[in-house]
Amino acid sequence: MNPVDVADYAEHAKATLAGDVLGYLDGGSGAEWTLRENTAAYRRIRLRPRVLVDVGSVDTAVDLLGSSLAAPLGVAPMAYHALVHPEAELATVKATGAAGALFVASMFASTGLVRMAQAATGPLWMQLYWLRDRGALLELVGRVEQAGYRALVLTVDAPKVARRARDLRSGFTLPPHVRAVNLDAELMAASHVAEAGVSAIERHSRERFDPTITWSDLGWLRERTRLPLVLKGILAGEDARLAAENGVDAVVVSNHGGRQLDGVPAAVDALAEVVDAVAGRLPVLVDGGVRRGTDVLKALALGAATVLVGRPVLWGLAHSGAAGAEHVLRLLREELEEAMALCGRPTTVEVDRSVLG
Ligand SMILES: Cc1cc2nc3c(=O)[nH]c(=O)nc-3n(C[C@H](O)[C@H](O)[C@H](O)COP(=O)(O)O)c2cc1C
Repeated sequence: MNPVDVADYAEHAKATLAGDVLGYLDGGSGAEWTLRENTAAYRRIRLRPRVLVDVGSVDTAVDLLGSSLAAPLGVAPMAYHALVHPEAELATVKATGAAGALFVASMFASTGLVRMAQAATGPLWMQLYWLRDRGALLELVGRVEQAGYRALVLTVDAPKVARRARDLRSGFTLPPHVRAVNLDAELMAASHVAEAGVSAIERHSRERFDPTITWSDLGWLRERTRLPLVLKGILAGEDARLAAENGVDAVVVSNHGGRQLDGVPAAVDALAEVVDAVAGRLPVLVDGGVRRGTDVLKALALGAATVLVGRPVLWGLAHSGAAGAEHVLRLLREELEEAMALCGRPTTVEVDRSVLG
């Protein structure tokens, strides 16, 4: 089968990946209500096209924190790309550069951060969880700066990893060849210990993530890095305002792809509240449930500066390595171009809430 849309890649992943890996990739937390909402909410939003506009050329480019992107698209930070393909992040980084998008590496990437930087042809950001071991956290930040990453993305919706039933049922454990190579092996050991009915990922986060951090700790990190700081996992306007007041450079509206607190709204349904709260002080990104170019257009219309895409990129990687990941991003970009043309909005600056019906 030659995939013609992201849904085809999703089907292929379902049919071919091992059960425990598929569960880790596609699954969510709790009853997976938020997971389902992330995609369902986009289906509920309607478009309102204008006609007889010159759409002979359509330009999807945007600027984001000093970088220009050919399309308002990025790859969301996802741990362990090696779970689905041996070329892992090297393939996805290359694919992302070729598609003119932003790559956000996970703190739990299975490829060295210098190798990712060397393979990158576009902007590269690094995601962090706040470790109890602040020495290890700072040491990583130093290496990230040195390697030329352009921003740090602190994930704030996971003081601990939520219970995910699919991983508990499979007793999900990382295979020995899949490792978070940018962190000390001792720090990561718990992720490799198999135990029936236990998710090794969840147990590891309980041991290693610091659940006590607050807004005042953010200042500690802010003072120790010159890189822009992005907070990922914002859903409330109050927190977006606090981010702006605490020296944060951008926020990502996200519910972690339905993998953290179940019962929160779809990311796209939380977007307008955050955009209105920051009132232009910071760029607002969004992720969760983006599967079509029209979804990207809807997010932009609600005020997103750029949209991050998670699972679809790993479905593409699983299908055919770098080529598959790049095709997924290109499909989204081409579908966005088509949607912009058919809506009579040939540039991203013309995409505002009047696009929505
Ligand atoms: C397999 C997988 C691993 C993930 N790992 C991380 C991670 O290490 N750090 C993080 O901040 N978010 C992580 N996420 C969440 C994504 O960054 C993103 O919020 C989510 O996948 C977006 O939703 P989507 O998959 O529907 O596009 C992960 C998501 C998946 C599916």
